[in-house]
Amino acid sequence: MRACLLLVVALCALVNVQGRALSQTDALPAAPAPAPALDEGAVSASGAPLFTLEEVAARNSPESAWIAVEGKVYDVTEFAPTHPGGAGRIYAIAGTDATERFMRQHGRPSMQWDLLQNYLIGELAPST
Ligand code: HEM
Repeated sequence: MRACLLLVVALCALVNVQGRALSQTDALPAAPAPAPALDEGAVSASGAPLFTLEEVAARNSPESAWIAVEGKVYDVTEFAPTHPGGAGRIYAIAGTDATERFMRQHGRPSMQWDLLQNYLIGELAPST
């Protein structure tokens, strides 16, 4: 009888612990929203992949650094650490339309502009 009572007490404790663990998990803040999914089908008239500014904005870190310059989208993740002006300057413009800063610093035509073309991945979707 005593053993039975002990078993019931132990079971109750177990259910309580699991219940608490579950409610703690439920109380965790929601995971950050994933980066907007690329619309695989969106292409420009010339067949280039189209990206929205929101999609570019999501690539704003050293792990994934995209910029837009004059309506074109570039993935400069690989280039950033080798930028002669410092990687920080590229990360500062990652995820943005960097037309003004790029043109002010390097202009076009320039060897920097030519280099940038190696990282072209698509075009900015026309704003809606
Ligand atoms: C993918 C190509 C490149 C991009 C997107 C890029 C972008 C930039 C940007 C946004 C800045 C800062 C502008 C500002 O502060 O407003 C900058 C600065 C600079 N970049 Fe580039 N750049 C590129 C290629 C190059 C190359 C090939 C060189 C050298 C041969 C270079 C040398 C410099 C230098 C010296 C500075 C100025 C650093 C300072 O003021 O201390 N960049 N670049």
